[in-house]
Amino acid sequence: MSEATFGSKLTMNLGPRSYDITLRRGALQNLYQLADLNRRVAVVTDSGVPPVYARQVADQCREAVIITVPQGEGSKCLRTLESVLQQMLAFGMGRGDLVVAVGGGVVGDLAGFAAAVYMRGIDFINCPTTTLSMIDSSIGGKTAVDLGDTKNVVGAFWQPRVVVVDADTLSTLPRRHYINGLAEAIKAGLLADPELFELFETGDVDADIDQIIYRSLQFKKGIVEADETEHGARRALNFGHTIGHGIEAVKGIKGRRKVGLYHGECVALGMLPMIESNSLRRRTRAVYRRLGLPVRAGFDKEKVYAEMLHDKKAQGGRITVIKVPGLGCWRADTIPVESLRSLLGLEG
Ligand SMILES: NC(=O)c1ccc[n+]([C@@H]2O[C@H](COP(=O)([O-])OP(=O)(O)OC[C@H]3O[C@@H](n4cnc5c(N)ncnc54)[C@H](O)[C@@H]3O)[C@@H](O)[C@H]2O)c1
Ligand SMILES: [Zn+2]
Repeated sequence: MSEATFGSKLTMNLGPRSYDITLRRGALQNLYQLADLNRRVAVVTDSGVPPVYARQVADQCREAVIITVPQGEGSKCLRTLESVLQQMLAFGMGRGDLVVAVGGGVVGDLAGFAAAVYMRGIDFINCPTTTLSMIDSSIGGKTAVDLGDTKNVVGAFWQPRVVVVDADTLSTLPRRHYINGLAEAIKAGLLADPELFELFETGDVDADIDQIIYRSLQFKKGIVEADETEHGARRALNFGHTIGHGIEAVKGIKGRRKVGLYHGECVALGMLPMIESNSLRRRTRAVYRRLGLPVRAGFDKEKVYAEMLHDKKAQGGRITVIKVPGLGCWRADTIPVESLRSLLGLEG
């Protein structure tokens, strides 16, 4: 692929809520060039993100407080949200001030929601530092915390003012997290970008990571622009997520369960039954093997099915799933929930 991506910029066109997505190595150290930091700024990060990144941002602000929450999904909760909001209030933040997220999807979702509700909404900037957040969660405006075991059930659509993707931060990301996030890029490739998919078959994901991030964002941007609040086309992004979420509920790493699968790994498994072409399913499995994503996991299928029945999208006995008949195309299929049994390989 020849497309130059160094210093590329995409614009999310959402009328008055439009914003730039800047992809540039080293951009974090030059955030002041991309945003107004001449105000009070809460830089939200977590304990697993090397502190140097948040410090780099804070150092460019007129007045900054760094708020560090514990790493892990457990921080996407009301108690941590309250603590973040309290620290913002104690710092004297007003309606014209700013929240900057420096971290993965956990920090982005939590800090974004804090920005959405603080004084009925203040400015938010997202600086994603994981592949998953660079490829997927940092754009689109979905922010949320979990309520007990139910993910993302308390949230808001709150678009960032700017998204700054500095791929240099990936140098410290543990390999398994790095690969985990790529599952969402494989998703984009399968749904709409054959060239991106082929890059996973034959390319070098480390050498081509800027390209992978860029193309994935380009895909998601198009979908969000067409359907900001998920009433139509945005459903495509749920490809792999119906079964994926079921697997995540049963096998995901969260709370006291320290061993299990990450979100992208669950989505990777969830996509396979939704690929209708046998040859494409084989190619996808080969990509997973090449990258080190799971091709099968020993999970209790009955339990996964029971979890899917609880899924909020499974109400009314029918469920809409996204199927991929061939590389680069998809369709939404509304099926009786029982059909998920055969997709999972269970007896009727
Ligand atoms: N809002 C959305 O549209 C959307 C979409 C997909 C997923 N999500 C959410 O994203 C979350 C998962 O995000 P994630 O996969 O980024 O996980 P994460 O935020 O938990 O980050 C993974 C781990 O990597 C560490 N880390 C982050 N950046 C690092 C770096 N540069 N170097 C070293 N360590 C680093 C973190 O401390 C954490 O321990 C989930 O809560 C999910 O619900 C949201
Ligand atoms: Zn996902």
